[in-house]
Amino acid sequence: MIIPELSRSMLKNSLVLGLFAIFTVGGVTLLQQLTAERIQASERAAQLRALNQILPKDSYDNQLLDSSVEVQDPLLGTRQAMPAYIARKNGQPSAVILQAIAPDGYSGAIHLLIGVQADGRIAGVRVVAHRETPGLGDKIELAKSPWIRSFENRSLNNPEASGWAVKKDRGEFDQFAGATITPRAVVGAVHRALQYFEAHKQELLATDTAPIAAEAALENEVEPDEVTTHSRAGAAATRDTLQINDPQTEQDRGQ
Ligand SMILES: Cc1cc2nc3c(=O)[nH]c(=O)nc-3n(C[C@H](O)[C@H](O)[C@H](O)COP(=O)(O)O)c2cc1C
Repeated sequence: MIIPELSRSMLKNSLVLGLFAIFTVGGVTLLQQLTAERIQASERAAQLRALNQILPKDSYDNQLLDSSVEVQDPLLGTRQAMPAYIARKNGQPSAVILQAIAPDGYSGAIHLLIGVQADGRIAGVRVVAHRETPGLGDKIELAKSPWIRSFENRSLNNPEASGWAVKKDRGEFDQFAGATITPRAVVGAVHRALQYFEAHKQELLATDTAPIAAEAALENEVEPDEVTTHSRAGAAATRDTLQINDPQTEQDRGQ
């Protein structure tokens, strides 16, 4: 008599425990999903705010965040692939927003967004992350100083190569009082990003044709050469992965 009652009670307890575990795991998973969606949405909004600061809204009519290509080049300050956003107006590429890293800030890497118009002029530069010293190196933030705007309308040949330095190094850009390392790092990174743009502008500005080329290649079962494009259907977004094979990059990889 005691034994069946004991096993009934054990069964009941196990069922309660099992149900509790199922509800807990389900609840946590649901919460995680909802939070992830929220974080993603707020990250998108923050990215778009930064992009809109660089490019005036009326200079493009496409969904910037859904029009990116992945680019990879040491000139952008990292060996990792990063998205570059292609702005288009009436179907024509009007500007490219590159992400670049200045690795040599006073306190480490400085992350930048650099908008380059199709004609090679800088639309704007913004610092999106840094650890420079408040009151010294943080004047690279627009909120602290207008210095970052000194790049606007500059291009690879304006000034010429020697001018792409801080005044202390006989260049054209101001340093800050008591802080030369930070602006020196940013000027160098922007200059290198312009060199990258100059070397790859054809591919960057022609990427709207890349999915078509890739689809055609798929249909004909031909490998697209040099430019690999993956069109992902979904949420009305097409994200292309563009691997630009740079001779310099190849050389670096070989080292
Ligand atoms: C505590 C401390 C923090 C500093 N932070 C920065 C900084 O964030 N950015 C910077 O350029 N220089 C910073 N400096 C000053 C640099 O050490 C350096 O003196 C200055 O950038 C001038 O560099 P230069 O000798 O190449 O002209 C800091 C110095 C100290 C002592």
